[in-house]
Order: sequence, then structure tokens, then C-alpha cells
Amino acid sequence: MPTRTPSGSASADRAIQNIKPEIRALKGYAAPPQGRVIAKLNQNENPFDIPAKWKQEILNKMANLEWGRYPDNQPIALREKLAQRFSVGSNQILLGHGSNQLLYLLMTAVITPGEPVLVAPPTFSLVELAVRLNQGQLVQMMKKPDLSIDQDTFLNAAKDVKLIFLCSPDNPTGQTVELDFLEEVLSTTNGLVLWDEAYTEFCNKSAIPLLEKHPNLIVSRTFSKAFSLAGLRIGFIIAHPEVAAELAKANIPYNLDQFSVLVTDRLLDESEWMEQTVQTILQERDRLFAAMQKLSGVAPFPSEANFITFGIEDAKGALKKLQERGVLIRDMTYYPRLESALRVTVGTPEENDVFLKTLKEIL
Ligand SMILES: Cc1ncc(COP(=O)(O)O)c(C=O)c1O
Repeated sequence: MPTRTPSGSASADRAIQNIKPEIRALKGYAAPPQGRVIAKLNQNENPFDIPAKWKQEILNKMANLEWGRYPDNQPIALREKLAQRFSVGSNQILLGHGSNQLLYLLMTAVITPGEPVLVAPPTFSLVELAVRLNQGQLVQMMKKPDLSIDQDTFLNAAKDVKLIFLCSPDNPTGQTVELDFLEEVLSTTNGLVLWDEAYTEFCNKSAIPLLEKHPNLIVSRTFSKAFSLAGLRIGFIIAHPEVAAELAKANIPYNLDQFSVLVTDRLLDESEWMEQTVQTILQERDRLFAAMQKLSGVAPFPSEANFITFGIEDAKGALKKLQERGVLIRDMTYYPRLESALRVTVGTPEENDVFLKTLKEIL
């Protein structure tokens, strides 16, 4: 059968002119390379998979559902379970197809063309993409050389914006932002503050209790990291009930599939398992950090998350050599202040050994 792939002569030049110039100018999200993998340490995932017996139990339940029916829109049982866990109301919770979907939703709901959005780079790269997609204007208050936020400058800039993004522990820095500082920001601005806690289970410092006093706070959480569900795509935000209700209007109906809901509901009953994997990851992170500190030419930044960003000479060259040897870690060199840095996710003890051994070899 001949392929139907358009050839060069069937140019799409005119067709793509219909897509907004702001979007055509974007680089887009660069998914990290997969390739031959001995140690996959490039996406801040939890390397410990869900135990097979729970998977089977969930699959059996899934087999008894009617797959031809639409799922619940914003399933109330799961929202109630989460509400109980975090001592908030179920009407404060909005579930998303990964927390990134809710980041996009918030940006769509808030940003008008030219709208300033305050961030402190280096921070989560997807925010920049989401702001640009909505033709917003990024107001970037660069972090200090030690990767902490320049608090006075940030507070000053926070006064007049509708949307502020903060992340704790931050990706790619690994550093937490103090909750006292968050409170100052919340009191200084009338704008909304999106506080991304994707990695909070690794440091146990959540801003959720501040929701009671600050209706402009939106806390974002994910099941992709500590809960080991990156493959399913599920996350949620917690906000003031009225804010959550307005945001829900901009959401895609039925944004969660039955399977993700079933798995998440079941896993929430297994907090102990999740906490054990977190403890193992924290022990491994400290071991990895200590070993990396001893390597000359490697300068790890302290981290409160499940990854370590580190400075290294010829970062791109090192990344390539590691990749050729089946060790996937992440390029950070496109971030300001991290032009010579890479990021390694804490893996299983075996993966971390492979990473350390390979890093030593290539240095
Ligand atoms: C800061 C931050 N937020 C959120 C996410 C996860 O998003 P999701 O819930 O869509 O998997 C990541 C994943 O890398 C992240 O680094």
C-alpha cells in the first residue's frame, strides 16, 4: 500500500498560516528522549511501580464497568475522599488530566492578551509555554545565584498582577519556598497565586492550611510523583469554593477517564505504601547527593524533592555520553542560572548505582 503521508510538494505553508503566529513562534514541549534505557532518571517519576496484586484487583473492577458510558464529570466520591484527606470541602477540589491540564485551564481562564504573569526563573518550564500560548506576558523575577527567590523584588512585582506562579519544592531547583513568604505574597496582591506542590510529599510542607485565610490561593497537586501514577495522568487543584466553581466552567467536560479515577481512589487507601516509597527515595537522594559531592567537577544543589540538579563542565557532552550508555537524565542548560547543569531523578538503588558509576567513568 502506498503511504498517504503528504510529500514536500504538497506544502502546508498556506494551511499553517491559519494557526496563530504566537503559537507558530513557539518551540513547543520537548519530550525527553527515551532510547536504550538502563536507568531512566529524566522525568522525576517514582521508580517503584504499584504492586501487581493491586493492579490486578483494579483491573478486575475495571472489567466490570461499562466502557461505552461517559465517566462521572468531576467524580464526587473521589473529591470527597481527597477533601477528607486534606481537611477541605469537596467543592474546593477540581480534578485534572494531570495537574498540567489544570495549569493550562487556569491560564486560559485568567490571561487575556498582554496580561502579565509573575514567575521566578528558573522554575517549571511549562508555565512559560502556557503563558505564551495564551498570549500573556511573562514577568520574570530571576532567582538569586543560590537559586532562592529575590523576595523584595518579587513582592514588589506581585502587587499589580492577576496571576503569580510559585512552585515548592521547585523544579528544577529542588528548593522549597518558605510558607511565610507565600503568605506575604498572598497578602500583598489581589491576584491569584498558583502554588504548585507536585513534589510536596518529599518535604511535607504544604500550603493547604493557608487556603482558609487566603481566597486567592490555588494549590496544585499531582499523583504523578510520590503516588507513582504518571502514566495515568491525574492531578487536582484546591481553591476557594467560588474560585473552583468559576474555573470549573472553563474545564473540558469528562476530563478524567474511569480508569484513572478507579486507580486513584484505590491508591488513596494505601498511603503507607506511598510513604514507604517516599522514605526510600529520600534515603537514596541523600546517598546520591553525598556521592555526587565527592566527585570533582560535579556540584549538586541541595534538594527537597526527588531529583538533584547539578552543575557539571560540558553539561551537554556529559548528557550525551550518559545517554549513549543507557542512562537518561535531563538537560537543564536552557534554564537561566543553570546553563551548565543537568538534573537526575532519584531512581531505585540499582539505577542510582548505575548512574554514579557511569558518571564517574565519563568524568
Ligand atoms: C513543577 C511540576 N508540576 C507538575 C508536574 C506534573 O504534572 P502532571 O500532574 O501533569 O504529571 C511536574 C512534572 O514534572 C512538575 O515538575
